[in-house]
Amino acid sequence: MTESQSQEDPKLQVEAARKAFEQEFERFAGFAEESATPLAFSSLSLSQAETEQRLLTDLRTRHLGKKSAFAAGKKMIGRVSPDERAAFGQMVQQNEAEITGKIARAEQALTSFIESARTERERIDVTLPGRRPRRGHLHPITMLRERVEDIFVALGYAIEDGREIETDFYNFDALNIPQNHPARASQDTFYTSDGFALRSQTSTVQIHAMQRRGAPLRMIAPGRVFRRDTPDPTHNPMFFQVEGLCVDRGISMAHLKGTVAEFLRQMFGAQTTTRFRPSYFPFTEPSAEFDFSCFKCGGKGCRICKNSGWIELGGSGMVHPNVLRAAGVDPEIYSGFAFGLGIDRMAALMYGLDDIRLLFENDVRFLEQFD
Ligand code: FA5
Repeated sequence: MTESQSQEDPKLQVEAARKAFEQEFERFAGFAEESATPLAFSSLSLSQAETEQRLLTDLRTRHLGKKSAFAAGKKMIGRVSPDERAAFGQMVQQNEAEITGKIARAEQALTSFIESARTERERIDVTLPGRRPRRGHLHPITMLRERVEDIFVALGYAIEDGREIETDFYNFDALNIPQNHPARASQDTFYTSDGFALRSQTSTVQIHAMQRRGAPLRMIAPGRVFRRDTPDPTHNPMFFQVEGLCVDRGISMAHLKGTVAEFLRQMFGAQTTTRFRPSYFPFTEPSAEFDFSCFKCGGKGCRICKNSGWIELGGSGMVHPNVLRAAGVDPEIYSGFAFGLGIDRMAALMYGLDDIRLLFENDVRFLEQFD
């Protein structure tokens, strides 16, 4: 039969359209099987099934839509000779019903497969054991800082927050360290191009606190400080200090010794003794460094205290009158003591670290030992 013959004969046209449908429908035929779970689904993923569903919808449009060969066939019913019309009409309808049925069965099977696959994907098995999130904890420096804060808050001290970036005035001048003073070199820090400096000690907060609160005053100021020190087991260019300041009428060296001794007893145990050695700081007069009896050997001598029985902790002294004046406090009325200690080295002593750089390497294997 030639193409022109089939185009002219409506019956042949319907048969050709049916044949074309069957050929294209072949890939979906497996989905429309009668069994509960047709084999065609056994290796089908959810996304593949969704693709098949789209293709099936396209197929329906092509073969049953307004522009399909069947739609054209239906239009021809009226043009067929009256004696053949009934038989031809029946043939068109029967084919259409069969095609519609096949597509509907395949579609229904695909839809229910997709629904159950989606449900399966979103299913939560409430009986499965939960996955425990990894719990973090505070950094050892923070834990130690909080212990120091607790002790001083109980002694009636306020906690001051300081700035990490300072002007020359707060870092040096107001602390009685004028330009060209040799103490500037020992605390050389990092400078910005606008004349600011990263503070080299928490003593800067003494000035801010007195300016803000006036006298009398009791405060501690824990915080980060910076120096151009080459890193080694006991030095970092960034480390933590705690500053203490007490200003009132009649404050003497006895108050300083009593306060530091009480703090160290609470920190390291009731048997701890403290010793003060004369020293020099530009912002205190007189000045002293303080040591405490080794918490490990009790003063007999061991590796931690380098066999001396004592551990050096920080600097202290009576606030220099020039510092009180620079902060707007009258040294004729008030006097005060101040002290400062390094938290990193204290942490190294307490936790038996032989290198303070470990504290900032962010190695979880190291840090999780302090939980
Ligand atoms: C001071 O910084 C004085 N501001 C302390 C002070 C305060 C004296 C109030 C008088 C009155 P010093 O430079 O010694 O002092 O430092 C204090 C502590 O900081 C040291 O004992 C040490 O524990 C710690 N420290 C100093 N440099 C470093 C560093 N590079 N790395 C880690 N810790 C350091």
